[in-house]
Amino acid sequence: MAAARHLRLVGAPSLSLDSDELARDYERISATRQFQAGQKLAADLAIQPGERVLDLGCGTGLLAEHVADLVGPTGEVVGIDPLPLRIELAHSKRRDNLRFEVGDAYDLDDLANGTFDVVIMNAVFHWLPEKTKPLLECARLLRPGGRIGISTMLKGHRTHVHQIASKVLAEPPFNQFPRPRAQLAFPVDAEEMRAFFGMTGFVPSRIEVLETTRTWPSAEAVIRYSEASTFGNFLGHLPPELKNRAHIAIRQRVQCLMTADGIVDHGRRLVAMAHRH
Ligand SMILES: C[S@@+](CC[C@H](N)C(=O)[O-])C[C@H]1O[C@@H](n2cnc3c(N)ncnc32)[C@H](O)[C@@H]1O
Repeated sequence: MAAARHLRLVGAPSLSLDSDELARDYERISATRQFQAGQKLAADLAIQPGERVLDLGCGTGLLAEHVADLVGPTGEVVGIDPLPLRIELAHSKRRDNLRFEVGDAYDLDDLANGTFDVVIMNAVFHWLPEKTKPLLECARLLRPGGRIGISTMLKGHRTHVHQIASKVLAEPPFNQFPRPRAQLAFPVDAEEMRAFFGMTGFVPSRIEVLETTRTWPSAEAVIRYSEASTFGNFLGHLPPELKNRAHIAIRQRVQCLMTADGIVDHGRRLVAMAHRH
């Protein structure tokens, strides 16, 4: 897949801030809750043996590996992600029916029309600044009746930890370096999701807001995950010395949320499923 030919959309998160350390942190920390959300999405999509599945924005490939076991030897899973370091880690997941490529949701031309039964996007949709092109591509790649499952950040909702981080970054000296755009991600709400499905040839079967609870062992773990899951964009707009100071300032305030059970952060996410006309 020719990722290099793809031009990043204006406002899209940077792909050049990722590092070996962030990729490894993501692999380790996402193996709990993020992976479980993906497994649930795969179960809800009722993925069957023999099906061909596209894991779009597959990260380090944990979910794709799980789905490869669901589709079995007569099925196939293709994992696509624009971050080469994440795809490098994904390649360590070996199955005869599983392959990974560096690629982008805005440039899937190398994949043939109507060749997938399912597209799964776990924690990816909110990274896409423009939604119709990737959804139209998914519709093109799916056979008629093929399914799409999306689990994503919910618009208008920010976890307690995100609110703390935004507050710190709005204070001096960090506010001298505002993010290039107001928000880090591009979440949608349920109505917008329904409209996007309608515009791109999908019939929604379920669009639901789910309550989530995430428990962290330490403030440091929260921040490391925020860095890893945003592939370095969380504090990546700051010069190195301020980045370190911001990390410490956010950690100190997040530490105040510590309970006997750890840092408990309540959240909400959007789960959306549809099939192609
Ligand atoms: C939070 S990670 C989720 C990874 C994986 N789906 C999982 O469940 O662990 C978000 C992923 O979205 C990917 N992503 C960002 N922009 C993308 C794009 N334009 N096309 C495809 N994937 C993208 C990132 O590279 C990153 O690996």
